[in-house]
Amino acid sequence: MALNHKLLNDETNYGWGPVLMHWLMAFAIIGLYPLGLYIEALDYYDPAYRTVPVWHKSIGLLVAAALLMRFVWRLANKPPRPLPQPVRLQQIAHVTHHLLYLLLATTLISGYLISTADGRAIELFSWFSIPALPFAFENQEDIAGEVHFITATTLISLATLHAGAAIKHHFIDKDSTLKRMLALREEHS
Ligand code: HEM
Ligand code: HEM
Repeated sequence: MALNHKLLNDETNYGWGPVLMHWLMAFAIIGLYPLGLYIEALDYYDPAYRTVPVWHKSIGLLVAAALLMRFVWRLANKPPRPLPQPVRLQQIAHVTHHLLYLLLATTLISGYLISTADGRAIELFSWFSIPALPFAFENQEDIAGEVHFITATTLISLATLHAGAAIKHHFIDKDSTLKRMLALREEHS
């Protein structure tokens, strides 16, 4: 195996651009989940109440920017052809990938709606601020909070199954599904 030096995806391999994006986003999302639960457990007078929510929201907004970039990239540069496996499993993988994107988008949008329910902008660290929408709906904070928890929890659960499938491909099927997502390619291909 050798490192794939190509930035873009081709017919058979993921380029290192989408690979880097996949792992940066995956680690950020996995980290955001316990951080979110920690915010919920924090007392208003705890000094961490001044910092942890800012990190959670700012990292979340960076993930949102990465998702937009990923979306544009995916339109312009298609993922490689799926590796051979039973059609049913191929369909499940396809639907799972789309569901992961959909759950991520709903988690990010609901997070934004919780944070801007009082009409205030969100500070992205102290670099700049993202304005609130010019309107709010009734009980926005509570409804968006419920949606945020449900979609974030479903996202992490599905991502766990997805990671399990990648590990099964690697150790049981012994194919190159995981290696492709680590920007490795067969020397002879
Ligand atoms: C993939 C990205 C994200 C994940 C996995 C995530 C996950 C979570 C989780 C698990 C909670 C605890 C919810 C509860 O116990 O009820 C939470 C809370 C929260 N999140 Fe996120 N979050 C993400 C992105 C964002 C973004 C982008 C924002 C805002 C810009 C945000 C704002 C908040 C706020 C304000 C809370 C406190 C909830 C409340 O007061 O009801 N999150 N998040
Ligand atoms: C929150 C965490 C994660 C999310 C949201 C996520 C999301 C995705 C998405 C959307 C794709 C499709 C890529 C595309 O073609 O656009 C993908 C592919 C892939 N992911 Fe993840 N992923 C996560 C974590 C992981 C983990 C922990 C592993 C491994 C242990 C993993 C292994 C893979 C592999 C091997 C592929 C390529 C699948 C194929 O070629 O069919 N992912 N991931």
